[in-house]
Amino acid sequence: MDSHAIRQAFIDFFVRKGHTHVPAAPLVNKNDPTLLFVNAGMNPFKDYFLGNKPPEHPRLVDSQHCLRVSGKHNDLEEVGLDTYHHTLFEMLGNWSLGDYFKKEAIAWAWELLTTVYNIPQDRIYVTVFGGDKKEGLAADEEARALWQQYVEADHLLDGSKKDNFWEMGATGPCGPCSELHVDIRPDTERNQVDGRALVNQDHPQVVEIWNLVFMQFNRLADGSLEQLPAQHVDTGMGFERLAMVLQGKQATYDTDIFAPLLQAITQKTGIAYGAGERTDVAMRVMVDHVRAVACAIAEGQLPSNQQAGYVIRRILRRAVRYAHSVLQIEAPFLHTLVPLVAQQLGPVVPGLLAQEQLVSTVIQAEEKAFLHTLAQGLQRLEQVMQTSLDAVLPGEVVFELYDTYGFPHDLTALIAQEQGRSIDEQGFQRCLKAQKERSKKATALVQDDWQLVHPDEPTTFVGYDVTTAEARLIRYRQVKAKGKTLYQLVLDQTPFYPEGGGQVGDTGHVQSGEERIMVEDTQKENDLIVHFVKKLP
Ligand code: SER
Repeated sequence: MDSHAIRQAFIDFFVRKGHTHVPAAPLVNKNDPTLLFVNAGMNPFKDYFLGNKPPEHPRLVDSQHCLRVSGKHNDLEEVGLDTYHHTLFEMLGNWSLGDYFKKEAIAWAWELLTTVYNIPQDRIYVTVFGGDKKEGLAADEEARALWQQYVEADHLLDGSKKDNFWEMGATGPCGPCSELHVDIRPDTERNQVDGRALVNQDHPQVVEIWNLVFMQFNRLADGSLEQLPAQHVDTGMGFERLAMVLQGKQATYDTDIFAPLLQAITQKTGIAYGAGERTDVAMRVMVDHVRAVACAIAEGQLPSNQQAGYVIRRILRRAVRYAHSVLQIEAPFLHTLVPLVAQQLGPVVPGLLAQEQLVSTVIQAEEKAFLHTLAQGLQRLEQVMQTSLDAVLPGEVVFELYDTYGFPHDLTALIAQEQGRSIDEQGFQRCLKAQKERSKKATALVQDDWQLVHPDEPTTFVGYDVTTAEARLIRYRQVKAKGKTLYQLVLDQTPFYPEGGGQVGDTGHVQSGEERIMVEDTQKENDLIVHFVKKLP
C-alpha cells in the first residue's frame, strides 16, 4: 500500500462507521493562546470537548498535520538523530464528540489494524492506564476488560500517567488512554527478546502507532481536574509510523513519504542515504524540517524573529546548518524539495499545491540569508575554539553567535558537541535576559504630562473627505520612544488616519508659518487621533 492509499483506507473505514470526513486545520494556531502550533489532532476540536461549542457532527475522521517543536510536546532536539521522531507528522484520527466511547473505539481500532491493514495480531501490544494515586485516579479497568476480548493477556500492559494519561498541555481536555504498539523486529530477534519488554523503551522497532484517548477531564490552571460535561474519544495514529509498519520498513524515513526527498539529496550530493551515520542524520534533519517549514509557510506563517515565526526560522536554520556543515551544500537547496513535499502533503495541506512557488521563494531567500551569516558565524566560532581550549564555551560567545549571526544556541551546542565540548547554557541565558531588559528599556515609552492649549475642544477626523486641513493645537506632550524624542500633537481637526486594523498610519507634515514638522507615525489613543511628530533637521 502506498502512503496515499494508507491514509485513504483510514478515512474510508471510519466513514463506513458513520464518521464525517473533515479537512485538517491550519498548522498555526490563531485562536488558542495556549499553543503556537497544532501539536495534536485534537487541538481543533478543543472547544467541542470542553462543551464550549456544540458539534455539527458527533463523529469525525481526519488527517491532521501536527508540529511538535515547542511547549509540552517537543521533539525538535531528537529529530534526525533517531529514525522515528519528526517535527511535522500526520495524525490520523477518529473522533467521538459526546457520542460513542471506549467500547466502539477499541473494537474499531482492532478491526482496522487487524482486518483492513492486516497487521499480525501477535505483533500488537496494548497499554492501558494503570491509575495514579497522587491524582486520585483509578486504573482504567473498563478499557482493560474490553481489550481482553481481543488481545492475549501477555500483550496487554499497564501504563503510567506519563504514557497513558494524555494531556494536551498544561491545561485543557485530558483523559486516560490506551496505546497500540507494534513490534516490527525480525522473528529471530523476537524469539530472543519478548516484545513486551520493549514497549515504551524507545526501541525504534517496537513503536507506538496509535493512541486512543478517552477524554473525561479538563485540567485547570491550578492543576486540578474537573469532569467534562460529556465523554469523548480522541484517537491519533502516527501516519508515518503506520506507513513504516505496512510497507515493511524498519524506519519511517524508509517509507515512500520520505524516500523521494532523500533521493533528491542523493542526486545533489552523490551521497547515498545509509552511507554513514553522520550524513544520514543530516539527511533526515533536512527532509523532516523542509516539510515542517513548507507547511507553515503555505499556511501563512513566514519565518521571522518572533514567536511562531521564530520557531519556523529555527527549524529551517537547523536544516541549513546540517546541509552546509555535514553535506557541504553551500548554496540554497532546500527550496528545491518543495514540489516533492507538496506532492506528498497536498491532500492534507492544499495550500502547498496552490502556493508551491511562493513557499519555495520564501525558503530560498531564508536559506540565502542564513548561509551568509552561517559562514561568518562558523568562522567566528572556529576562531574562538582555536584560541581557547576550554571544554565549555562561554555564555557570552554563545550569545554573540545568537545575537550577531543568528545561531540558535542549540546549534552552537551541537557544533561544540561535535568537538567534544559543551556550552555554558546558564551564562547564555543570563546574556539573553540582559538583552531582553535592554530592549525593553529601548522600546519603553516615556511620556511627559500633556500640555493643554485648548483643553475643552473636541477633535474631528476629516480624512475621509480631505487630505489637508487648517487646524488648531488642542494639546501636546513630549514622548521618548525607541531612543528618540518625539512630540504628540492633538489637533482640533485632522486628515491623518492612525495605524490600526492592519493599516499603516498616514504620514505627511504639519506647517505653522515657516516651520514645517514631519508626521512620522500615528497612533490611536483613547479615541483621539494623535500624531508623533519630529522637527525637521
Ligand atoms: N491526543 C492524542 C495524541 O496526540 C491522540 O490523538 O496522542
